[in-house]
Amino acid sequence: MSEQPAIAVLISGSGSNLQAILNASERGEIPCRVGIVISNKADAYGLVRAEKHGVPTEVVDHRGFPNREEFDAKLVEIIRGNGAELVCLAGFMRVLTPVFVRAFPNRILNIHPALLPSFPGTHGPGQALSYGVRFSGCTVHFLDEGVDTGPIIVQAVVPVYDEDTVETLAARILVQEHRIYPMAIRLFFSGKLKIEGRRVRVSGEPRIPEFFHRNPDA
Ligand code: GRF
Repeated sequence: MSEQPAIAVLISGSGSNLQAILNASERGEIPCRVGIVISNKADAYGLVRAEKHGVPTEVVDHRGFPNREEFDAKLVEIIRGNGAELVCLAGFMRVLTPVFVRAFPNRILNIHPALLPSFPGTHGPGQALSYGVRFSGCTVHFLDEGVDTGPIIVQAVVPVYDEDTVETLAARILVQEHRIYPMAIRLFFSGKLKIEGRRVRVSGEPRIPEFFHRNPDA
């Protein structure tokens, strides 16, 4: 049996989305393996998760580079050297420049803890709470050269309750992130995703929104 295609996962912290991807890969739910995990932080717990699964890791500390472009060029070099066919940003807290985005056209996914285009940036759950929305959620999208602006592949919705704090809302959203990130990776490797302008179509399948009530843990 030939080896499955490799993906690169980029993290900066806990790596719970990385864990969901590792689990999905080991259960055969996505047709790929995690070939490398790269972190810009040496103390990211996601590195421990990767090592527990026998996945090679690299730390590339952004502070060691004179500018974003040179940092990005180093990431590109590592990922190309590893032969990864898809790059998954999973809590990677650096904005990537066109040097990175153009190296892997339509082959970079990102997960964001809000229903884009609402609340882009680094405080999705907190901003949803202060704005007073009754529903929030998460989004997996292709990376483009903007911040959290690329074509959307999958979204999931969660309710916002009166008694929520940023932490309880973020935790409810995270449950859904762990579900939709592997789903988006599976769709990517199905070869059925077609980007038409801003819209991502799954050829041959209707687009069914993934609502929170399908998941009893939500
Ligand atoms: C997630 O909420 C993700 O959407 C955001 O950063 C967080 C990372 O969590 N981009 P983890 O490191 O995967 O646990």
